[in-house]
Amino acid sequence: MPAIALIGAQWGDEGKGKATDLLGEHVDYVVKFNGGNNAGHTVVIPTADGPQKYALHLLPSGILTPGVTPVIGNGVVIDPEVLFAELDGLVSRGVDISGLVVSANAHLIAPYNRTMDKVVERFLGSRKIGTTGRGIGPTYADKMNRIGIRVQDLFDEHILRQKVEGALDQKNHLLVKVYNRRAIAADAVVEELLSYAERMRPLVVDTSLMLNDALDAGRTILLEGGQATLLDVDHGTYPFVTSSNATAGGACTGSGIGPGRIERVIAVAKAYVSRVGEGPFPTELFDADGERLREIGREFGTTTGRPRRCGWYDAVIGRYAARVNGVTDFVLTKLDVLTGWDRIPVCVAYDVEGMRHDEMPMSQSDFHHAKPIFEYFPGWNEDITGIRTFDELPVNAQAYVNAIEGMSGAQVSAIGVGPGRDQIVQIRPLI
Ligand code: IMP
Repeated sequence: MPAIALIGAQWGDEGKGKATDLLGEHVDYVVKFNGGNNAGHTVVIPTADGPQKYALHLLPSGILTPGVTPVIGNGVVIDPEVLFAELDGLVSRGVDISGLVVSANAHLIAPYNRTMDKVVERFLGSRKIGTTGRGIGPTYADKMNRIGIRVQDLFDEHILRQKVEGALDQKNHLLVKVYNRRAIAADAVVEELLSYAERMRPLVVDTSLMLNDALDAGRTILLEGGQATLLDVDHGTYPFVTSSNATAGGACTGSGIGPGRIERVIAVAKAYVSRVGEGPFPTELFDADGERLREIGREFGTTTGRPRRCGWYDAVIGRYAARVNGVTDFVLTKLDVLTGWDRIPVCVAYDVEGMRHDEMPMSQSDFHHAKPIFEYFPGWNEDITGIRTFDELPVNAQAYVNAIEGMSGAQVSAIGVGPGRDQIVQIRPLI
């Protein structure tokens, strides 16, 4: 059976949980392949005592599904304090977390990486990225600089100490001389990291080997991307991006399986667009429409609580996501949020200083100056939250979805019509 990649098509927070729910019991493994606790998803699980809400930041959503093995892949950066706090939170609510496995090659967010994230952002001033402040960027930078600390280093105190001292040699100079902060003592960092070693040990396996064996044995693997296409360090709106590969290619490097094993690439796109943090956003709304999207769509960050910037659907981004990820299916979420507008604008191309761009401009400066060229679609007023088949949707909602599909370069296979797990119009199976 296949591996399936699930990624965000825009700037994150598209509601990947909807697609995960649709794949449901068909999936044997859910792999987080990039990012760290900068992500955030709220999962609502129906129980005998009513719906239970879980906010997860680091753990893959599969942790809540009985029978699924949740995997933290080598491409992830792990803050061990957050990992164990999230696990403790789930255990206290009776969730069985015994299946979780962690790659020995995943990198650890050391306390100094969190410090660097915050001081660098402050130092950048108006040029700041608007990071989540969780130490994600500095940890990936250490990985690329080959001074990172990996999960496996927790089990060799000598090596761990050497690596921490090596990393701090450089960073303390920066902290003291450039950022005017106190130096960080290697001993304290080593002690803190070692305090997690025994708890981490039983979780650690060769995840690449395990996943390839699972595919050989006919199991189904869901590779779930954190963040999204336009936050990808290579294909996003650099430098206003996260520091990992959130696109489908990252699913291979971040988990240790080959590209030929991925049979389906599902991209989740909101029926409009949102973004947190800084950076260009051509269809962003600064008026009452933007406020209304934010309020009705409950667009406030799960991780930082920040209000999200909101704007109309951007088909240039949709096409771009289809291209760089090799999307086979879109899941279009939050269509219900668009109910009640007389007409709904969709950005079909950009105007950059008098030149029409149907595709993502090659240069970031052009993207910063891109003005949306809109087409307008008639809206609908009917409540669509109870609808479960495409044909029952108001004709104008059908036309809106068909138009988005036509412009975005891949079929729309499911539509989210409300926050509940079952509030989905499924057009064709995803597996
Ligand atoms: P970092 O990942 O904390 O370095 O932040 C870099 C950029 O990615 C910032 O603009 C963040 O707001 C954004 N970002 C990181 N994780 C998420 C996410 O899960 N959803 C949406 N935006 C995110």
